[in-house]
Amino acid sequence: MSPYTSLDELARIHGTPLYVYDLDRLDAARRDLFGWLPDACDVFYALKANPHPELVRALRPGDGRGCRAEISSTGELAAALEAGHAPEDMLYTGPGKTADELTEAIGHGVRLFSAESLTDLEHIGTAALARGAVADCLLRINSVTASAASGVRMTGKPTQFGIDSETIADLAPRLLSVPGTSVAGLHLFSQSNAADEAALIGEFRHTVEVASRIERELGIPLRLLDIGGGFAAPYGQHGERAAYPKLRAELESALDVHFPRWRQGAPRLAVESGRYLVGDCGTLLASVSNIKVSRGRTFVVLDAGINTFGGMSGLGRILPVSVRVESRGEETQRASLAGPLCTPGDILGREIEVPAGLRPGDLVAIPNTGAYGPTASLVMFLGRPAPGEAVVQGGEVLSVSRIEHVRTYREVAQSHG
Ligand SMILES: Cc1ncc(COP(=O)(O)O)c(C=O)c1O
Repeated sequence: MSPYTSLDELARIHGTPLYVYDLDRLDAARRDLFGWLPDACDVFYALKANPHPELVRALRPGDGRGCRAEISSTGELAAALEAGHAPEDMLYTGPGKTADELTEAIGHGVRLFSAESLTDLEHIGTAALARGAVADCLLRINSVTASAASGVRMTGKPTQFGIDSETIADLAPRLLSVPGTSVAGLHLFSQSNAADEAALIGEFRHTVEVASRIERELGIPLRLLDIGGGFAAPYGQHGERAAYPKLRAELESALDVHFPRWRQGAPRLAVESGRYLVGDCGTLLASVSNIKVSRGRTFVVLDAGINTFGGMSGLGRILPVSVRVESRGEETQRASLAGPLCTPGDILGREIEVPAGLRPGDLVAIPNTGAYGPTASLVMFLGRPAPGEAVVQGGEVLSVSRIEHVRTYREVAQSHG
């Protein structure tokens, strides 16, 4: 551990582009999220938001209320294990689980899976049986109905995610008799980044109602009900995490109506979150490499582009970012923020307000970049090094690291042609 006094100092010592993750802010987000929720509620941390082992470790059950790990690959499994999460507490999700990864996860002791279809359930069962195990499975439901359009919707239309809710009644006998599996509950994830508290509450109330109907159709009591997420946080822009002062009471009243024994743990309630937990702990520091004017328009070229932050840009989810220079005043100029890649798509903001008078060598800070940073970016594209990642807490630097890509060659059998 070594003390630091400013982000400028970190950038000077460790270079840019550099992500700085502040564990004090992460801790505040964790405490806030648990505070908005009923007491008897598990939170699954979605490692896809940021699998950095030190962040994943900081979210683990410890002195306070900690998160369980929601993983979707063997890479995320490795990160969660490295961070000290117990395999039996993890939830393995995703529409394309292969036989090899299921075998690996079950071999490590993961026993809770979200099943996206009858065939996915069968694959999980086959892998579990091969280890002499039984896997608890949450049936992921693609609800045909929704509360109101908000955030990034993931249900209601044909998708690779979940079992169509209208087919559950007919499928029930087969879903409940897959060797190697035991249906433990339901998983519904209908939105990400809800527009506001009303949208989040509306979606959760609707989800609880759908879940109770499906419980009746299945004819078995649910042990775990994962109602998904939607907890919102700014992404690459200035702003604060959302507040949910009404959520707890609203959720409790919906559960009291539809699952009168939920307070006794029948079923246990769970939610999922990525961006809310880690988004605002991150700041991306980048340097201005060049400034150029083309046909009257100014381009500020940074050493960080969609290879560093913004792999989600193709989904239209993040642009434009906002930047600040610590030492500058409030005056701004209009410019486009470009990254270093040889593609016209490498734009972090088109014709946006940036600090006035930017010069090559200036350091800019992009706030709220702790979620969907390196992990969601085109880090291999054009062969630039991955960004540095510094973890800090209480004015101390805990670690600085960088992901390396290494090509490994396999033995190739000689051809006898
Ligand atoms: C199943 C599931 N859980 C959790 C998340 C995390 O979402 P967020 O980072 O918006 O909380 C996602 C994101 O797409 C998801 O698909």
